[in-house]
Amino acid sequence: MDFLEEIARRRTFAIISHPDAGKTTLTEKLLLFGGAIQTAGAVKSNKIKKTATSDFMEIEKQRGISVATSVMGFEYRDLQVNILDTPGHKDFAEDTYRTLSAVDSVIVVIDVAKGVEEQTEKLVEVCRMRNTPVIVFINKMDRDGKDGVDLLDEVEQKLNLNVTPLSWPIGMGPEFKGVYNIYEKQLNLFNPHGQQAEEEVVKITDLSDTFLDENLPKRLVSELREEVEMVQGIYPAFDRKTYLEGNLSPVFFGSAINNFGVKELLDCFVEIAPTPQPCMTEERMVEPDESKFSGFVFKIHANIDPKHRDRIAFVRICSGMFERSKYYFHVRSDKKLRFSNPTSFMAARKSVIDEAYPGDIIGLYDSGKFKIGDTLTEGEKLHFKGIPSFSPEQFRYIVNADPMKAKQLSKGIDQLMDEGVAQLFYQELSNRKIIGTVGPLQFEVIQYRLEHEYGAKCKYEPVSLYKACWLSAEDPAKLKEFATKKKRHMGKDKSGKDVFLAESAWMLKMAQDEFPEVQFHFKSEF
Ligand code: G4P
Repeated sequence: MDFLEEIARRRTFAIISHPDAGKTTLTEKLLLFGGAIQTAGAVKSNKIKKTATSDFMEIEKQRGISVATSVMGFEYRDLQVNILDTPGHKDFAEDTYRTLSAVDSVIVVIDVAKGVEEQTEKLVEVCRMRNTPVIVFINKMDRDGKDGVDLLDEVEQKLNLNVTPLSWPIGMGPEFKGVYNIYEKQLNLFNPHGQQAEEEVVKITDLSDTFLDENLPKRLVSELREEVEMVQGIYPAFDRKTYLEGNLSPVFFGSAINNFGVKELLDCFVEIAPTPQPCMTEERMVEPDESKFSGFVFKIHANIDPKHRDRIAFVRICSGMFERSKYYFHVRSDKKLRFSNPTSFMAARKSVIDEAYPGDIIGLYDSGKFKIGDTLTEGEKLHFKGIPSFSPEQFRYIVNADPMKAKQLSKGIDQLMDEGVAQLFYQELSNRKIIGTVGPLQFEVIQYRLEHEYGAKCKYEPVSLYKACWLSAEDPAKLKEFATKKKRHMGKDKSGKDVFLAESAWMLKMAQDEFPEVQFHFKSEF
């Protein structure tokens, strides 16, 4: 198979959802179809259970599990499908945002009873920023939930997506009979007893087919006819180009646990989902079919073996072919590096690979050279965009609690920040270190890891901060003026960029009013 064919057969995507909507279950069923696993239960959820916030061993265990299931590849209908897993816990949302920079499309799972939840909104917002094509899967149809039309309304309103249902449910909960596949004009009938490998499929001419009247409850049939007629009147017909542009999201209904509607989703996905897309760098757009290799690190996972402080850097290949043991250029350090054991991820199995193509994710063993966002090329100085840091939600001073271990602490903090566990800011006047996170769990993880991996002890002290804002202005003099005037509230991020550390929403508003020429950004890329 030649290089272009290899690219054309790759589909790299992520499944995102609010915890408990069924992401893990759906992933597992997709892997079963792909033959990547043989039995249900092989994929462990990487979510950190609510009760485990103080159970460090549990956190470690969960982290370990999520390494194995971070990327799962399988072949389906001659295509190479790569699923990137995302942590469910909201405190690790940054990790998920970064993973989304490495995929070409996403499937959003929504619980029919709960509708659009908070975490889903945030994640889809990131997809919208990048125009990532989105497919929606409404799950748990075997349970009573919201009405289909109301749910589509909610998806449009809250997720800001234009939708078009490609299937429509017949009843729900105990009355759930299956779905009508609008696209293929067929009925997929639900068998509530037992785990069906494939749902029963009946081809019908259209919704007036008497098969419906003969085989389904009268009320449900008339509801189905009415509803489908209505949704076809309201929603646009599916158009692949619009979907690929990120402006139209097909919607499916099913029940992942019952393996219902999953094959239909997968079959549609492989047909419509985008092949590896061009990647934007600060310098230029990189096309996947360029002959020279390039890729970026979007995730670093440490401590796979607790006895060694080894890490795996996850690299998304953007262009060209990656080859084992060849020297590549690490742009940030200006050095050549070679990798003799690059791995690919097929389900929970890792295997050493000789080559990989655009769209693939490879794992590179790393002894501490990589940072999130690093670029590898064949020599060109490229810097991939699209992995911004977002303003943290919670801030604390980090303080050394063991003066004998200052060096270890400083190294540990540096490496954990390179991995993207949290963000570090230096206060301008005091030069004190402030850790910023999305949620409280990360503070615990940092403390635990500093102690167990670096032998260092830290404690936290409260700091009253609301947001960290990155700044820009057309006139550099204005920025300087701002920084001088607000010196007491200025800081630097890890890469030395100026940030305004606002103590409250009110203070931020005052600063904005006072300096209308300065733009305040809640993420590091703008
Ligand atoms: P997540 O990764 O999005 O967090 O969700 P996960 O797949 O772990 O599913 C959350 C719960 O929802 C699980 O139950 C799972 O069995 C259930 N579930 C998933 N799909 C369906 C579905 O189509 N119908 C119904 N009724 N339930 C579904 P749990 O009790 O939390 O875990 P478990 O003990 O079953 O593993």
